[in-house]
Amino acid sequence: MGVKIVDTVLRDGHQSLFATRMNTEEVLSALEELDKAGYYALEVWGGATFDSCLRFLDEDPWERLRKVRKVCKNTKLQMLFRGQNILGYRHYADDVVDKFVQKSIENGIDIIRVFDALNDVRNLKQAVDSTNKYGGHCQIALSYTTSPVHTVDYYVSLAKEVEKMGAHSLCIKDMAGVLLPEAAYELFSRLKANTKLPLELHTHCTGGIAEMTVHRAIEAGCDIVDTALSSLAGGTSQPCTEALQYALQGTEYDPKLDIKMLEAAASKMNKVRDKYLANGLLKPKALCVNPNILKYQVPGGMLSNLMNQLEKQGAMDKYEEVLKEVPRVRKDLGYPPLVTPLSQMVGTQSVMNVLTGERYKMVPKEINEYVRGLYGKSPAPIDEEVKAKILKGADVKIITHRPADDIEPEFEKLKEQYKDLCRSDEDVLIVALFPEVGQKFLEKKYNPQPQDEVVEVNLYI
Ligand code: CO
Repeated sequence: MGVKIVDTVLRDGHQSLFATRMNTEEVLSALEELDKAGYYALEVWGGATFDSCLRFLDEDPWERLRKVRKVCKNTKLQMLFRGQNILGYRHYADDVVDKFVQKSIENGIDIIRVFDALNDVRNLKQAVDSTNKYGGHCQIALSYTTSPVHTVDYYVSLAKEVEKMGAHSLCIKDMAGVLLPEAAYELFSRLKANTKLPLELHTHCTGGIAEMTVHRAIEAGCDIVDTALSSLAGGTSQPCTEALQYALQGTEYDPKLDIKMLEAAASKMNKVRDKYLANGLLKPKALCVNPNILKYQVPGGMLSNLMNQLEKQGAMDKYEEVLKEVPRVRKDLGYPPLVTPLSQMVGTQSVMNVLTGERYKMVPKEINEYVRGLYGKSPAPIDEEVKAKILKGADVKIITHRPADDIEPEFEKLKEQYKDLCRSDEDVLIVALFPEVGQKFLEKKYNPQPQDEVVEVNLYI
């Protein structure tokens, strides 16, 4: 059987290349062709698409999902779900996670890809249970990183654990694009031998090795790979769908995609790409190869963030020093994978350590919370001396249980609190996840005029 393909052009493609700004009209523009191309699934939804709809596009993200679902009659729809963070930036109560999963599936999602930055499986449990409860396909994605604790054995043992938890498939999520071809071969061979779950690879082209890595993973038994339609492939995005189809055509791995449909879709999506190239949101640099990510093992987005922070401080001369500090901070903190929000946190701490001239003299609030266990369990123990310095001997509680265990049910409270603004559970979830931006969006959407209030139906009265 050939390899299955998930196309990311409608989610990670534009998220990686131009800050997730594609609007619903553009998303729909080539959707009929994409739906007929023979994909296993289309990745269409996630935290950034949801956020961007509300914050920049003035669009209802749920409405986009329903419109996409209506067009896609043949292809499964997939979303990315940040464990107990859902699509937001903090831990939510279990009832909010449950409601979000329920509504996502009701509005059209088939496959929910759940991940946690720290690979703390306790932060995945509720999302996995809810996806199973509402009949969705639950995929668990393990954040890939390199460190003395992130060995092949580590990933194999996690894979066995998530299989027991009730996942339907397993993805290796190489958000930084640092998985090397031979490492992928070994990893996928071992995973294949130790779990029955279908295996998927998600990587990025940033460092210039993704196509080789994907090919070796497939040879080792990887069942599904993420690629992007040529219009938004390469650079900081995924390997090109059409190119992979040509490369594997006639082999035992032939994905059997309809190349004519892909061409028809690409000719439409190229217009979208050209618009963002012309208006400057898609910067040519995002399409360039950056082998430094392999040298420093730091995601491309983090490299540019560090440069911005140092530029603002007038301290660009400290760039190399900060890059050398990043792996030291990571080691001190128990080797967290550099994915949102840990990548920003480790980056900021490294900048502070270098600029103040004294390590951990200044510590961001988030790092303090991380040390206290509020993000979950660190992959390796946190260095005791560093922990003491960060907590400054204060008598603070260090949490070893699941962070969300401390959060009371929230959904009904939020529903009551926003009953004048929200007309559906979907609306409540918008304000739950993005309180300020979500409220502004809904106020504008419903534009409450006195005369309207009389005739409009509020589901909660
Ligand atoms: Co990605």
